[in-house]
Amino acid sequence: MFFSAFFLLFNTLTQPSPTLALGSDTRLYGPGSKILASAQAPSELYSSLVQQKVLKTAQAEPDPAQYPQYTDRTQGEWQYFVPDTWTTGFFPATLYELNTRATLCNLTGQPDWVGMGRQWAAAEVPLETNTTVGHDVGFLSFPFAQEMQINPSNQTAKDAVNAFATALAARFNPVVGCTRSWDTPNNPTLFQVIIDNMMNLEVLFVSESLTGNTTLRDIAISHANKTMENHVRPDGSSFHLVEYNSTTGAVIDRITAQGYADNSTWSRGQAWGVYGFANSACRCSSSLILLCTVYYHTNDTRYLETSRAMATYFVNNLPSDGIVPWDFNAPLDPPRPADTSAATIVATGLLLLARQELSLSPANTTGATYWSNAAMNILSNATQLAWRPDWQSLLSNGTVNNHYPSANNDTGIVYGDYYYIKAGNDLVQMGLATCSQDASSPGPGSGQTSGARSRCPPCAWARSLRRMLGRSS
Ligand SMILES: *[C@@H]1O[C@H](CO)[C@@H](O)[C@H](O)[C@H]1NC(C)=O
Ligand SMILES: *[C@@H]1O[C@H](CO)[C@@H](O)[C@H](O)[C@H]1NC(C)=O
Ligand SMILES: *[C@@H]1O[C@H](CO)[C@@H](O)[C@H](O)[C@H]1NC(C)=O
Ligand SMILES: *[C@@H]1O[C@H](CO)[C@@H](O)[C@H](O)[C@H]1NC(C)=O
Ligand SMILES: *[C@@H]1O[C@H](CO)[C@@H](O)[C@H](O)[C@H]1NC(C)=O
Ligand SMILES: *[C@@H]1O[C@H](CO)[C@@H](O)[C@H](O)[C@H]1NC(C)=O
Ligand SMILES: *[C@@H]1O[C@H](CO)[C@@H](O)[C@H](O)[C@H]1NC(C)=O
Ligand SMILES: *[C@@H]1O[C@H](CO)[C@@H](O)[C@H](O)[C@H]1NC(C)=O
Ligand SMILES: *[C@@H]1O[C@H](CO)[C@@H](O)[C@H](O)[C@H]1NC(C)=O
Ligand SMILES: *[C@@H]1O[C@H](CO)[C@@H](O)[C@H](O)[C@H]1NC(C)=O
Ligand SMILES: *[C@@H]1O[C@H](CO)[C@@H](O)[C@H](O)[C@H]1NC(C)=O
Ligand SMILES: *[C@@H]1O[C@H](CO)[C@@H](O)[C@H](O)[C@H]1NC(C)=O
Repeated sequence: MFFSAFFLLFNTLTQPSPTLALGSDTRLYGPGSKILASAQAPSELYSSLVQQKVLKTAQAEPDPAQYPQYTDRTQGEWQYFVPDTWTTGFFPATLYELNTRATLCNLTGQPDWVGMGRQWAAAEVPLETNTTVGHDVGFLSFPFAQEMQINPSNQTAKDAVNAFATALAARFNPVVGCTRSWDTPNNPTLFQVIIDNMMNLEVLFVSESLTGNTTLRDIAISHANKTMENHVRPDGSSFHLVEYNSTTGAVIDRITAQGYADNSTWSRGQAWGVYGFANSACRCSSSLILLCTVYYHTNDTRYLETSRAMATYFVNNLPSDGIVPWDFNAPLDPPRPADTSAATIVATGLLLLARQELSLSPANTTGATYWSNAAMNILSNATQLAWRPDWQSLLSNGTVNNHYPSANNDTGIVYGDYYYIKAGNDLVQMGLATCSQDASSPGPGSGQTSGARSRCPPCAWARSLRRMLGRSS
């Protein structure tokens, strides 16, 4: 059922250019499309401390289940939250990322990351029908989408992805053209959409690939269209929150919730936008979705261009120390806190954008190289500032929110660490880093290939393609 539905979808949507399926798209890594990066990934990305810390947290699972979200500010100890919290999916998703890491890097003696990921995801299942996280069901779906790559016949995981997608789709208002981010029960005609919501469209694309239900994609595209129109400013910066009238569709206000000011640019929101629009541009580069659902079938380059514009704003507005501030417009005096989660999210988004540049025909090697260098510089600066061997989190200096009275800055953050690890994996898959780097190893682009570089790029996506098509490798 799954495979035949998928095949049908695959065959229908890839016309007239079936060779665009990513496993066979050798342009991504073939001769002439190589990224000649001058920057280098920080060695901490591949430190064994990454696995040690995550394992320790994984083995201390609270009962009943609770999930780490951020740390305290001084000891770096995880603070735990009930399952019905928007960040719940990130720790189990991190466990799956470490399984990917183990495969990519051919690590031996690894713990059972997948087993732990399954175990940690289990307490999320009841949220399918009972959650208050609103649009963030997309984030909740991450570990289940990862499970589908490992075991596409896991019905529990498939049901979870589809249930979370249905829940997000149910928040779609055709008059507004968006899915609702936050509920405002005492003001029902108020319809709030935050830039973060771009990230949650992922679950719609994933569910579409499982069910063939193209309504989900239409909803995602409509949401992206509207967000492009109303959240993104002409200079590529962004508003955090756009308020619509749910009955007329009119924009009522453009404000902020977590940023410094209504007209400022909150860095994490900007990072979600870079990533979310690159993700909407073309689904070719995802390891799960093998179809270029939007870009290649509409030839609509606006999503790619929006991601570029938002990325350009981000990179051009970094301070000279390369530290990502919590808000680009927050005053320097008193000093503004950093947000390393914005740094790792944007780094991962820039690497996705780089892959989109490479998937153009002809491959945009210049663009891909530029974004890859920027990603590695941002990761290096964040690592230099915030790598904390003695904390439970990998990084410190995350800012959840910097608003009095609930200011919460200089902490470790679970999604900051998740995207740090994912960026590390993506760099290896893209041939831009080796799994164990040290100061004496040759930099990427030096022409030398390591085992990981030569082995990995052709593999993960092709493997996943074969798996989805039901062929043995
Ligand atoms: C992976 O590592 C093991 C043990 O070091 C080695 O025997 C094996 O050849 C490696 N596999 C690949 C594909 O490099
Ligand atoms: C299927 O996925 C769910 C959710 O990730 C997990 O809890 C369960 O253990 C998995 N089942 C099998 C048989 O792997
Ligand atoms: C829904 O979840 C809440 C906890 O978040 C719980 O108190 C409540 O009993 C659940 N409701 C149902 C119908 O399971
Ligand atoms: C496709 O998804 C939409 C949104 O969840 C739903 O309303 C519709 O019934 C689905 N279509 C099919 C054929 O399942
Ligand atoms: C939305 O528009 C309707 C009709 O004009 C109006 O009654 C309602 O108050 C508006 N809602 C908001 C939140 O502005
Ligand atoms: C998104 O915008 C494009 C370009 O304006 C348009 O062709 C398309 O119909 C829109 N899609 C949806 C679902 O709104
Ligand atoms: C935001 O508005 C304030 C007050 O009008 C103004 O001083 C400030 O320069 C504006 N900031 C930006 C980034 O436009
Ligand atoms: C998109 O544009 C490319 C290059 O111009 C063309 O080859 C392709 O057929 C177009 N695809 C669609 C769906 O229009
Ligand atoms: C830090 O960022 C700056 C500005 O983006 C960049 O020039 C520098 O190379 C980065 N530092 C490191 C160590 O990567
Ligand atoms: C980073 O966090 C430390 C505390 O862990 C703090 O002392 C320092 O000021 C922070 N740096 C920045 C740039 O926010
Ligand atoms: C960080 O948050 C604390 C409150 O927890 C606040 O007093 C402090 O001003 C904030 N730091 C910065 C640099 O804004
Ligand atoms: C290549 O990428 C860069 C950066 O995104 C962009 O400015 C440039 O227009 C792109 N070139 C082509 C030919 O698409």
